[in-house]
Amino acid sequence: MKFTIVGAGSSYTPELLEEFALRRESLPVDEVMLYDINELRLNIMKGFCERFTKKLGLDVLIRSTLNLDEALEGADFVDTQIRVGGNTQRVLDEKIPLQYGLVGQETTGAGGMMKAFRTIPVMLEIARRMERLSPDGWMINYTNPTGLVTEAVTRYTKANIAGFCSGGIFPKMWAKKALGIDYSRVQYDYVGLNHMNFISNITIDGRPVSSEEFIKIAAENDSVDLELIKLLGVIPSPYLQWYYHTREKVQKVLAAPLTRGEEVQLLEKEVYEAYADPENSDKPSALAKRGGGGYSEVAMNFVNAVYNNVDTEMVVNVPNQGAVSFLPDSAVVEIPCLVNARGMSALNVPHIPPMCWGLISAVKNYESLAVESAVEGNIQKMKWALLAHPLVMDYELVEKLVPELLEANRRYLPQFKF
Ligand code: G6P
Repeated sequence: MKFTIVGAGSSYTPELLEEFALRRESLPVDEVMLYDINELRLNIMKGFCERFTKKLGLDVLIRSTLNLDEALEGADFVDTQIRVGGNTQRVLDEKIPLQYGLVGQETTGAGGMMKAFRTIPVMLEIARRMERLSPDGWMINYTNPTGLVTEAVTRYTKANIAGFCSGGIFPKMWAKKALGIDYSRVQYDYVGLNHMNFISNITIDGRPVSSEEFIKIAAENDSVDLELIKLLGVIPSPYLQWYYHTREKVQKVLAAPLTRGEEVQLLEKEVYEAYADPENSDKPSALAKRGGGGYSEVAMNFVNAVYNNVDTEMVVNVPNQGAVSFLPDSAVVEIPCLVNARGMSALNVPHIPPMCWGLISAVKNYESLAVESAVEGNIQKMKWALLAHPLVMDYELVEKLVPELLEANRRYLPQFKF
């Protein structure tokens, strides 16, 4: 098996190797191909991965390249984990909307849209090359905003893509932490979009959880008020904090000395110094201060399901095709799917909580317009997208934001003429 990592300079790369080591009997990976455009980070990561695989006792060939075609050619799986413009642009995605009192966040609101604008053309290029160089391979996408990226790739290319977020396994993680029970015993209904989803009907070994158990599980989602979760009766994604607690959260971010992106920039210095140390073959402790977790586990669940043809239920970003009754077929949604060697088929979405239709519809409306705007370089659609977004929507602010957001991203937006 050839497993390629696009954006391999990312600090999360070694976690994929850990998963390979855990599954060495069932997943015979021969070659891990590391690709990045940042030569320094690529070299640091290659060196560390070699030391780390040795430590893990994993017999796998680690290669690296700056040539995308070489990376993609004949790959069975291509894990995409890129951040176009890096954390420097992330900080602008945060700060520009905040100046107007709006949510400034890397994947949600106006900032998230700019991340999508920078990222979608690059992801389409990777997907188009995969059509040619690895037509049977699977793109496992972690690049955010994963819902918009997946919608762009499925609408505009023929590449095989599964769009992931670790949020799909959050309820399992929460139940494990709160009640000490194994993942395999926990099931739930899950509906919505990436970072805009709702979890309901949680069961353990097939029996509905008690209200005490529900509260214990819900309390692990500490981004959203527990009283609010009790009121809803379903657990919203932690990202719903930006919608349900908008004023409080914006004030908190404005009062903080650094935005999250600025904190991450500092953390990255520490993380890469540790990775670069030729004597070090341990994951840096500062990595635990990053927000991502569970990515590699989800990615390898997918690889195992496809490669070994094991029927596996997973939450994936896929084209709706009727699964969520009130959304168009081409709209990418984040829902449970059955995954095996034939790919993914969406499972029925039996329960749609009544208070979430409007939010999901509005945000999907924004997402689809943003995807079209990103592909066409269309400024009118950019404004439509922001007017549709429940976190923006104010005409005067939209007119002020648009030129500023475009200017701040000029280098990364060749598709727009301004
Ligand atoms: C989440 C987000 C990612 C983010 C990651 C790490 O999974 O969806 O976009 O990169 O957390 O968070 P951090 O704030 O540490 O970058």
